Amino acid sequence: MNELAGKHIVLGLTGGVACYKSAELCRSLIKAGATVQVVMTESAEQFITKTTMQSLSGRPVYTSQWDDRVANNMAHIELSRQAHAVLIAPCSADFAAKLIHGRADDLLSLMCLARPRDAVPLLIAPAMNREMWAHPATQRNMAQLEADGAVVLGVGQGEQACGETGDGRMLEPDSITEAVVGHFQPKLMGGQSVLITAGPTFEALDPVRGLTNRSSGKMGFALARAARDAGARVTLVSGPVALATPDGVDRVDVDSAQQMFEAVTSRLETATVFIACAAVADWRAEQVSEEKVKKQVGKAPPTMQFVENPDILATVAKNPRAQSGDLFCVGFAAESHDLMTNAKAKRERKGVPLLIGNIGPSTFGRDDNTLLLVDAKGTREIGPDSKLALSRLLIQDIAQRLKPPAKP
Ligand code: CTP
Repeated sequence: MNELAGKHIVLGLTGGVACYKSAELCRSLIKAGATVQVVMTESAEQFITKTTMQSLSGRPVYTSQWDDRVANNMAHIELSRQAHAVLIAPCSADFAAKLIHGRADDLLSLMCLARPRDAVPLLIAPAMNREMWAHPATQRNMAQLEADGAVVLGVGQGEQACGETGDGRMLEPDSITEAVVGHFQPKLMGGQSVLITAGPTFEALDPVRGLTNRSSGKMGFALARAARDAGARVTLVSGPVALATPDGVDRVDVDSAQQMFEAVTSRLETATVFIACAAVADWRAEQVSEEKVKKQVGKAPPTMQFVENPDILATVAKNPRAQSGDLFCVGFAAESHDLMTNAKAKRERKGVPLLIGNIGPSTFGRDDNTLLLVDAKGTREIGPDSKLALSRLLIQDIAQRLKPPAKP
């Protein structure tokens, strides 16, 4: 997706082993549609060459404030005025300390100081040893950077170049690109608290078998990302799926419909939007066998009795806060045929203001989809498009229907 089309990013590299990931980051930003101008400190040059970064960005790399390639010899002004954002990745502990004091004795720090703060945001991806990261001085500096208006993207956890394990790794290139994309999204859901269900449920039949469906969770996870990027606090209640949690999203893993029901109803109080995207199993086994049900040679297959699961969406829609409009409920309908008729009927049956219809068999597991938005006034189709692009449109649509968030 070309989500950074038209955006010009100054990518600043400071000294750290994580500079090897900045090469991949540069490619990832360009793949997302951005143009990238690399600026490196002298220490960064110890870890990666200008040649590599020039080849990947397709532009000469700047390292010195005395670079006379810039006509007026003011690289710090010229480069920062053209940028939509300055991204420092990796940002060393030393460079962060420098920034908070407004020091400006190299091109990159000079540029950060000289940039027009309202127009050119500063995003920071720190990278350092876990002890350095945990040190009160570093934590104080990060807090000060945020207080000064920078966006600190956080750090990853895991094995470090020094052989130790802990917090302080630079985030992976794709996560950083995702954060940059998110940063540019309009904050239409600021102050809202969004609760989303996603994926299938799994209803055990015995210790090794169960009843489930082919939902991959991709639509619900894309919605979580879009709602987060729109400025909402997001909780994602997910059935068993193989997807990474979007950064900053609070995830609750469940298996069965009953567990999903409990996870949702216990988190309703603070939610202002509920999106039921999960493909919840309608039935569960009346009796779950404690031991594996064995095949009996020569005998008829076992018969099973099922009971109905609670309807999460219909229950939430009856909640007084949903009825008063303080909790906006959105349902999904995965149909195999007669989408329009089924989706309209389902919206009324579930008692929700907005229901999103889609054709289950043609979207389960895929990255794209087509959605039919059904409300009291009529229907509107969006797509085909990627699930993320559709989610952004859907979040925009939902945002317009919401009451403004209550003042804290
Ligand atoms: N849903 C739910 N709890 C259930 C069943 C469904 O919250 N026990 C929600 C889904 O998350 C979705 C909507 O209700 O938002 C419709 O789900 P769907 O499976 O399409 O509808 P059903 O009511 O199960 O109807 P049917 O399977 O007969 O089409």
